[in-house]
Amino acid sequence: MRDAAPTTIFLADYTPFGYEVDSVALHFTLDPHQTRVKSRIAFRPNPDATDKTFFLHGEKLKLVAATIDGASVTPDVTDQGLTCAVPDGPFVWEAEVEIDPAGNTALEGLYMSNGMYCTQCEAEGFRKITYYPDRPDVMSVFTVTIDGPHPVLLSNGNPVETRKHHAEWHDPWPKPAYLFALVAGDLVAHTDDFTTMSGRDVTLNLYVRPGDEGKCAFGMQALKDSMKWDEKVYGREYDLDLFNIVAVDDFNMGAMENKGLNIFNSSAVLASPETSTDMNFERIEAIIAHEYFHNWTGNRITCRDWFQLCLKEGLTVFRDSQFTSDMRSAAVKRISDVIDLRGRQFPEDQGPLAHPVRPESFQEINNFYTATVYEKGAEVIGMLKRLVGDNAYGAAVDLYFERHDGQACTIEDWLAVFEETTGRDLSQFKRWYSQAGTPHLKVTEDWQDGTLTLTLAQHTPPSSATPNPQPQVIPVAIGLIGPDGAEVRPTEMLEMTEATQTVTYDGLAARPTVSALRGFSAPVVLDHDQSDAERAHLLAHDTDPFNRWEAGRNLARGALLAMIRKGADPDTAYLDGLQRVLTDRSLDPAYRALMMGLPSQSDLAATLHNLGHTPDPAAIHAATEAMRAAQASHFADDLAPLYAENRVQEPYAPDARQSGMRSLAGGVLALLSRLDGGAQARAQYQQADNMTEQLGALACLLRVKAGDAELAAFEAQWKDDRLVMDKWFGMQVMQADPEDVAATAHRLTQHSDFNWKNPNRFRAVMGSLAMHHAGFHHASGAGYTLLADWLIRLDPVNPQTTARLCSAFQTWKRYDGDRQALIAAELDRILDTPDLSGDTTEMLTRVRTA
Ligand code: TRP
Ligand code: ZN
Repeated sequence: MRDAAPTTIFLADYTPFGYEVDSVALHFTLDPHQTRVKSRIAFRPNPDATDKTFFLHGEKLKLVAATIDGASVTPDVTDQGLTCAVPDGPFVWEAEVEIDPAGNTALEGLYMSNGMYCTQCEAEGFRKITYYPDRPDVMSVFTVTIDGPHPVLLSNGNPVETRKHHAEWHDPWPKPAYLFALVAGDLVAHTDDFTTMSGRDVTLNLYVRPGDEGKCAFGMQALKDSMKWDEKVYGREYDLDLFNIVAVDDFNMGAMENKGLNIFNSSAVLASPETSTDMNFERIEAIIAHEYFHNWTGNRITCRDWFQLCLKEGLTVFRDSQFTSDMRSAAVKRISDVIDLRGRQFPEDQGPLAHPVRPESFQEINNFYTATVYEKGAEVIGMLKRLVGDNAYGAAVDLYFERHDGQACTIEDWLAVFEETTGRDLSQFKRWYSQAGTPHLKVTEDWQDGTLTLTLAQHTPPSSATPNPQPQVIPVAIGLIGPDGAEVRPTEMLEMTEATQTVTYDGLAARPTVSALRGFSAPVVLDHDQSDAERAHLLAHDTDPFNRWEAGRNLARGALLAMIRKGADPDTAYLDGLQRVLTDRSLDPAYRALMMGLPSQSDLAATLHNLGHTPDPAAIHAATEAMRAAQASHFADDLAPLYAENRVQEPYAPDARQSGMRSLAGGVLALLSRLDGGAQARAQYQQADNMTEQLGALACLLRVKAGDAELAAFEAQWKDDRLVMDKWFGMQVMQADPEDVAATAHRLTQHSDFNWKNPNRFRAVMGSLAMHHAGFHHASGAGYTLLADWLIRLDPVNPQTTARLCSAFQTWKRYDGDRQALIAAELDRILDTPDLSGDTTEMLTRVRTA
């Protein structure tokens, strides 16, 4: 039997809660299996609400006692919460409950990780801590006291009193319960401070387990950079005397923005040169910024209900991407973001899990922390900024902060500040929030006597989420490049609103090459039928760095498709063009490294599917390997010098310049290894004093099957470092040949360090399995079966992480009948599992009924 019959919740059904909360006082007496939580909550009737039902959420709680205004009451209790008769006016509710943090493997609510207590309340975890109106539009100030045998006892806000085994905290800022946090443990602080723009002094602590002190400096610097940046760019100042971050090993996602007490997956904050790659450093900097930026976009202004999740997440992702662009290279960040969007959001938007940026219904909100809400949500804000311009964007955002500080808001509130400051009607633009699916934008050219006419046509494929899509507002940035490579028309923003529109350029001396959708000005699939010669011209000359990269990517994709479909040889025009870029020393190494990349194998599968073909994962894999081999031999003479000149000689720093060099040297080393059998990679492995070079060399060696000794040495060196061992687990699956992927993953699950209840470790193996396109989709079906086995095993322990991994199956309808049958059988096997969680049931039901 399932948890409870699944209920669907609708945006249209929103009603405010019948009561407001004036204050919350919580008292915790910590114990692994019998923690006592006493609550004292002051309620008053909400004058804006008609429904006065007094319902408090509560799950997995043992109610010990309850009183109203001091008189004992006996509420009606169910699995979901309780109802109780209450007085007409203001009243005080008190309750005592018992909970079991050590038995909480779902990592939601109050739980234990390595002997430390911590919480995760977003979205609906607070109801596992005590009875409460657990919805984001109920906001209150909180006072928290903690009794526990730990040296460090933390909660939100400012400390009121701390003595041995006792702490009291007060958070003066009204907040919804999902931002509540508590941490207790034997932790050490890495401390620093920050003076805000108005001169207030803020103490900053990064709390870690003893032994991890050496991995704090980078995260702390990222925090200070974020605080400074938000003051400078958005005028937003921090608002408490203290800002704490805690690193936790067992965590379902990246990090959580609890007021004044951010809790981080240790993988998203702990860093050192020896144990973290350049990519880790960049990700950590971005996540620290993201959580910090939530203090204004999320905490001071929060969401009215969970349908509005993109109000805080889309905006905060947009802000953290602006931050990374400013800290590092804007072009590199844009390209990386688009790779990520196409890799994660496009498959979601084009498959059975498609939903609008603001969904209109859900069963389990945890299933809607998606690439669509986050990444497409951020793209929508980028488009809005492009349409209104930077100044108007700034004015609108200022008005948003001024008007809505302290409120729980909606997308309507957000769009209204733009309409008011710009006088624009955004009703059509709003379709970006309500329609699912990726629009396709077709560009056709007509050239006559010095006049170029472009016809733009938009079409969004219908989906069950949006059966009848209407035209959207699409900002299309276009520039023209002349035959000599000079830009004959600089970027202009065409604001597309109709299904079909034309734009005309006249007085042109010669037919130019069109550079459309510059900077990826809208999250659409561009269908622009350009010749390889035109693409090569843009690859050589486009002044827009994104589109220059895109031209190379289009050439690569075209060449790979010809190899897959027609058995063509690797295209020399592509290889020549890429060689010119690679050896152009005036270009940023990071940018050149991105140029070397090929479209992913799942991207190729999606492209084939969109062209009406059935993708063959083995053929896609073979073509990709052949293209890599062709790159290696085509660039053979350039590789050694490129490698040498991009080896960093100075002491390691995780900055943009050095990491760009290392990423180019790493890409070159991968090609070199195909020629020298791994000799150079082995040398790099031996010399490496940082994880980027050590892991990069190991990957090259495993790829050419010459890394057994290094793999063993790596394990011996790092067996006590969890985060590094996650890389060791993942790398073996990622670098395995397709026919060995499932067996490798299975073998790793039998390793004594495969702690499958830890989400990072589980994902290192099972996430890598799902990401290995040819291995996961191997014709044997072994990949499908292994993943299904482990999802079935994890589901009762951690439904949230299980449900997230179900998205591995979302593209199943692209493949041939045999594979579809194999997958369908696994989906049904999981769905037939007794007591399957609501989270996983919802995900797989949506996937299955594709
Ligand atoms: N709000 C968090 C963020 O985007 C993410 C988050 C939501 C989360 N639910 C979670 C993190 C559950 C951990 C566990 O920054
Ligand atoms: Zn967020």
